[in-house]
Amino acid sequence: MTDQTPALRLENIVKTFPGVRALGGVSFEVFPGEVHALMGENGAGKSTLMKVLGGIYQPEEGRIFVEEVQTVMTSPLQAKAKGVMFIHQELSLAEELSVAENVYLGELPRKSFGRVDWARLYAQTDEILDRLKVSFNARTRVGDLSIANQQMVEIARALTVEAKAVIFDEPTASLTDAEKVVLFDVISDLRADGVGIVYISHRMEEIFKITDRISVLRDGEYRGTLVTAETDEDEITQMMIGRSLDLSRNAAPVEVGEVALRVEGLSCGDLFQDVSFELRQGEVVGFYGLVGAGRTEIAETLFGLRTPSSGRIFLKDEELKISSPIEAIGHGISLVPESRKEQGLILGMNCRDNITLPQVDDMTAGPFVADGAEVAIFDQYRDRLQIKTPSWRTSVGSLSGGNQQKIVIGKWLAMRPDVLIVDEPTRGIDVGSKSEIHNLLRDLAAQGYAVMVISSEMPEVLHVSDRIIAMYHGRIMRKFGVGEVTEDSLVQAISGIGGDGQAA
Ligand SMILES: Nc1ncnc2c1ncn2[C@@H]1O[C@H](COP(=O)(O)OP(=O)(O)OP(=O)(O)O)[C@@H](O)[C@H]1O
Ligand SMILES: [Mg+2]
Repeated sequence: MTDQTPALRLENIVKTFPGVRALGGVSFEVFPGEVHALMGENGAGKSTLMKVLGGIYQPEEGRIFVEEVQTVMTSPLQAKAKGVMFIHQELSLAEELSVAENVYLGELPRKSFGRVDWARLYAQTDEILDRLKVSFNARTRVGDLSIANQQMVEIARALTVEAKAVIFDEPTASLTDAEKVVLFDVISDLRADGVGIVYISHRMEEIFKITDRISVLRDGEYRGTLVTAETDEDEITQMMIGRSLDLSRNAAPVEVGEVALRVEGLSCGDLFQDVSFELRQGEVVGFYGLVGAGRTEIAETLFGLRTPSSGRIFLKDEELKISSPIEAIGHGISLVPESRKEQGLILGMNCRDNITLPQVDDMTAGPFVADGAEVAIFDQYRDRLQIKTPSWRTSVGSLSGGNQQKIVIGKWLAMRPDVLIVDEPTRGIDVGSKSEIHNLLRDLAAQGYAVMVISSEMPEVLHVSDRIIAMYHGRIMRKFGVGEVTEDSLVQAISGIGGDGQAA
C-alpha cells in the first residue's frame, strides 16, 4: 500500500477557534481503495479535520495534497471539483427543495440558454437513487423525508461525480440496519473503484468490519495510525482516551421500589399494539428491537406527542391522560429524544441556557440570583457529563456532535423527572463518554428514578438494563427479568422468533 500515491494527504494542519485549538498539527493520508477510519473522543477534531479537507474551513497552517499535487481548498464546490466529496455529520440539506435539487445543488444540469434541464436532472438523480435502493424518488421534497432518508440524500450527493476521495462523517448514526447494509455495499463499490474513503464513526464493530486502517486523534493531536487487522478495541480506546475502560458493572442487586409508571394495553394505530409493562423506581428497563419496532412511538405517546388509540397509562396509581409534553413534564415524565437537532436544542443559544431553559420559571427570584443559579446548574452537568466547551457562553451549534448530545441529556436531567425516558442516548457519543452516560443512568436509578432506555445497540441494552423488553413489529415479544437474558434469546425475540407473544 505504501508504494502507492495517496489519494489524499494532509500535512501538519493547524486550525483554531476562539478558545479552542481544534487541530494542533495533524497529518493524515488515505490511499486509493482504502477505507481509513478516523477516531477520537467527542471534540477531538475529526469533523474539523475533514471540514478543512472539504474546503469548509481554512487552516492557519499546513498543506493539502490530492494525488500528491498541492491544493488549496477554498470551498466545498471547489473540493468537489478536485474529486473530494463529503457526507456531513449534521445534515445540511435544503428542506424546501426536491431530492434532485439537493443532490445537484449549485450544479443543476442546464440546457443551452441556461435553463435547468429538469428531465435530465430527475433522470440522473433517479439513477443514483436506484443504486441506493431507497423508497423515495428524485421529485420528493426533502422536508418530507425521515432523518434516515435525508442521510441517504447526503450520500446520493457524493455519488454524483467521479470522486477520488469520499469522507463519511458518522453516516450510520441514524440509519436502519437495512440502510446500513446498502451503505456498506456502496462503500465497497467505491473502494473497488479505487476511491480513497475516510470513515468517521464511534461504533467499534463497524470500524472493525469495514476499515483497513485506523488513525486516532486526541484533543486535536495526531496519536498514530494502526492496521485494523492488527489491533483491537482496547488498544484503540487506549489511544483515544489514554486509559482502558472497565466495562464491568457493579452487580449490586437493585433496590427496586414502587411502580412509578404502568401501561396497560396501550395501542397507537398500526404503530404499536397492546403494549403493557411497568417501570419501578430504582430500575432501568431497556427496550430493544430493530429500528421501526415501535419503541420511539411508545415513548412519544407517554410524553404526550401522540394520542393512543386505546389503552391506559398510570402514574403511581393515578390514571393519566397525557395530551402534550407540557403535561407530561408536569407529571414528572421526561423524554430525551432520538434526534437532537430537531427536538432537543436551540443551536444559536448558549450551552447554559439550553440546559436550564425548561426551568427558568423556577429560578426567577431576581435576574442576578437566577443567573448565578443557572451557571451553577450548568457547571454541575458539564462536570457530570464531561461536556467539552470553552465556556457556558459558547453557542451549542459550535460544539462537536457528541457534545451537543450531552447538552440534550443534561437539559432533561436538570428537570429532575420521576420517570426518565431516553431514546438512543449514546448515538454519536465516544466510547469513554458512553460508559459515563451508562453509569449516570445507573446512578439515576439508584437515586430512585425509573429509567426507560431505548437502544438499538445490544451491548448497550445488556449493559445498562436491569430488565429488557424486546419488541418486534409494534408488539412486545418477550420480557426478560433480572439475569434472564442471553444474547441469543434477545436476537430471536427482536426478529419475531421464539417470543412468547404477550409475556406477563
Ligand atoms: N465552528 C466552530 N466554532 C467554534 N468551535 C468549534 C467549531 N467547530 C468545532 N469547534 C470546536 O473544535 C473542537 C473539535 O470539534 P469537532 O467537531 O472537530 O470534534 P469531533 O471530533 O468531530 O467530535 P464528535 O465525535 O463529537 O463529532 C471542539 O472543541 C469544538 O467545540
Ligand atoms: Mg464530529
